[in-house]
Parts: sequence; structure tokens; C-alpha cells
Amino acid sequence: MTSETRVDEIAPEIYRISTFHEGFGIQFNQFLVRDDEPFLFHTGMRRMFQATLAGVSKLIDPSRLRWIGYSHFEPDECGALNEWLSVAPHAQAVCGQVGAMVMLSDFADREPRALADGETLVTGRHRLRYLWTPHVPHGWDAGMFFDQTTGTLFCTDLFFQPGNPAPIRDSGIVEAARESIQTAHAGPLVKDMPYTTDTDATLRRLAGLRPEVLATMHGSSFRGDGQEALLGLAGVVKELIGS
Ligand SMILES: [Fe+2]
Ligand SMILES: [Fe+2]
Repeated sequence: MTSETRVDEIAPEIYRISTFHEGFGIQFNQFLVRDDEPFLFHTGMRRMFQATLAGVSKLIDPSRLRWIGYSHFEPDECGALNEWLSVAPHAQAVCGQVGAMVMLSDFADREPRALADGETLVTGRHRLRYLWTPHVPHGWDAGMFFDQTTGTLFCTDLFFQPGNPAPIRDSGIVEAARESIQTAHAGPLVKDMPYTTDTDATLRRLAGLRPEVLATMHGSSFRGDGQEALLGLAGVVKELIGS
């Protein structure tokens, strides 16, 4: 049960492909870096593949897709991976070493490319740095990509916002994240993010990238001082989850 997919440019040649799922009451956002070697971040769920495909088709011929990145092994992150591999003959999944070895070695229909922490994927004009962020937001294999060309951090489930908000916001993202974490405490999805000995350092490392755009999977992307937002989130997470 999804509404129509909308496409918005959130940074130069970076597009947010958003599908609102009425059943879950949240958006599932995918991001396309339109470049010589087009890069899709998150495949979307398998059952939403046609909606995501329609969104990508507004931007490129989907058979041209070259790279499929994601953060951690979950249906909204990479559930439609094999559907994408079948429509894009030159496409390859790209993820961290744990994801490639433990999950995709069996799940993916084609061999993935594994990146080490800090390694850079060049897609043409864009340079995407891979950061292994174990258990942030969750999952041993979790990682994020940072587009050094535009200062965009693909931050997956961080800064979760429910509902069907606008594509971009420029304020209030830390408060929204706080509210979401507090709301989750009353429901079955509590414990989505563990607090480990590395959590604070990982969030501070992301802040150190000084991102100008935070591309969030659920809710509005953020344009502004990403360092301040991530340090704010680190404080909220420490207060609400870490103590
Ligand atoms: Fe997730
Ligand atoms: Fe997600």
C-alpha cells in the first residue's frame, strides 16, 4: 500500500526517490547519484520495487545503473537487490567487508564489491567514501557513504522521522530525532539502536566529516550544519539510549 513515488534533487545530481507507505505510515527514501557510473543508495523493499524503479526511470535508463550501495542487511536497505541486478546487467552491489562476506555472498545473485573502511568509490564526478559504522544505526555490517563532492552523508535510519514530510528541512532535525526515539520507547520497535562502546565515537566520527546534507531514509533530508546535527544526535542518543 504505497502512494506515488516522488523525486527531488537534494544536492547537485543527487536525487531523493521517496515512496510513502500508508501501512507503516513512513517514507522509504532511496537516493540516486546521477553520474557516469550511476549509484543507488538503498534498493527499497522487494515489494516496492516497481515504485522505486519508476522513480529511478525518471532520472536514468535503469539498465545503466552501475552501483547499488546500502547500509545494513534489511529489506528496505537491500531487499530488492536481485531485482535491480536483473534489470541492470552491469550493476554490482557495493558494501562493507562484513556485508559482502556474511550476507551477500549467499543472498546476491552476482558477486558484490567489498570496500574497506575509509575506501573511496569514484563514480565519475562524485567521490563516495565508505565508512564502516558497526551497530550504528544497527547491524554488525552497517556502514554509510559520504559523497565528498557535495558533502552529502547517506545516513540511513539516523534522524528517523515518521509520516510523509517535505523532501528537505533546514532546522529541527535533532528535536525530531529525539521525539522519534522517545515514541519508539513505547512500541515494539524499541531497541532498534544498541548503545555500544563505539556508538558515541562513531557518531562523532560522522560529525567530523562536516556534512552539508544528511540524506535520511525515513523522513526529510536535512540541509545545513550536519556536524552540529550529528553532535546533537550523539547527545540525544547518549541521554535516551546510553544511560
Ligand atoms: Fe534499518
Ligand atoms: Fe530503514
